[in-house]
Formats: sequence, C-alpha cells, structure tokens
Amino acid sequence: LTLVVLISGAGSNLRALLEATSHPDFPARVLAVGADRDADGLAHAEDFGIPTFTVPYAAYPTREAWGEELAAQLDAWQPDLIVLSGLMRLLPAAVVARYAPRIVNTHPAYLPEFPGAHGVRDALAAGAEQTGASVIVVDDGVDSGPILAQERIAVRPDDTESSLHERIKPVERRLLIDVVQRIATGELVL
Ligand code: GRF
Repeated sequence: LTLVVLISGAGSNLRALLEATSHPDFPARVLAVGADRDADGLAHAEDFGIPTFTVPYAAYPTREAWGEELAAQLDAWQPDLIVLSGLMRLLPAAVVARYAPRIVNTHPAYLPEFPGAHGVRDALAAGAEQTGASVIVVDDGVDSGPILAQERIAVRPDDTESSLHERIKPVERRLLIDVVQRIATGELVL
C-alpha cells in the first residue's frame, strides 16, 4: 500500500509511521510527505530519505486554490491512501471528493466527542474524566467521517493540554499504524 502523509507540525505521529513503514515486512510505504507550511516534521521525512513537498496555505488567495495545488501534488504521487497526521487544515470539499474514502485522519479525542482543532483543550475545558484517540475516514465534515479505530484515555486531575496531548499521541500512533496495516492487508476496506 502506498501512502502520502500530510502534516502541519512536529510530525511525531509521522515519525512513528515512517519507522513502522521502514520495516521490510510492513505492507505499506510512504511515497512522500507534504505540509501546508514549513513544518518541523518534514525533517523526519528527510531523515528517512522520503521526498517532501510544501503547499504553503498562506501563499494562496483561497482555500480552494490551495486545494488545487495540493491535489496536483497528490496526483503526481498517485498514493493508494492519504494519511492526515497532524494536518491542521480542513481539506476543501473538491479535494475530499477527489480522493474519498482513501483519506484517513488521526484525532486526539474520542470522536464524536470534541471534534475540531482543539480536541484536547476542549476535553479539559469540559472537565471530561476521560477522552481518547480516534482514526477516522475523512469526509467533508469536521472530524465527522466513519470511525476506523478509537481508544479511551483517562484524564488526570493535574493534566495540562500538553501533558494530556503527549499521552494521547502514542495511542494515536499505535491506532494509525494498525489501521494502515489492516487497510494494506485488505482486512479493512474503506
Ligand atoms: C496529533 O495529535 C494530531 O491528531 C493532531 O495534532 C497532533 C499532531 O501531532 N491533529 P504531531 O505533529 O504528529 O506531533
């Protein structure tokens, strides 16, 4: 199974995916890593000798124009699956329509609880005693697609957004790698 991974930030989830897919017996390969800005996480792809591309959101007049360039980059790689792994950007409907359902996303909450860009912060603000991590199929809503995998994580009374998020990310990574493997083996069909 061939992947293109899209990120915006540190790319710790990306790094885990790069490590997993670099094993010869793992049935998926990362063709390229893309970002909507000059993301620190692109360095992980460089460490693994994986090509990178950036489509800087700020360089385009509209989300749609940005999406057209992103789609052109994705078309160039022809991946079997697009993985959003910390992409902090909603894909334009045209991009989702072009590739759905072959786009999956990780989210640091137990969807449908706390969707959106601040899932961890929102769980804390709501005083939730537990939250979670989820892997979903991307649709043209916000974190509203079919849930492929999710797991509960306890919130601790002394948790900050950062401490809770750092506890969620390893679970996200494990769920994401497992979902990619199940898609690659045909056990999971999108
Ligand atoms: C992850 O929790 C992801 O689900 C969320 O942002 C975080 C990205 O972390 N959208 P990283 O860039 O993979 O370290």
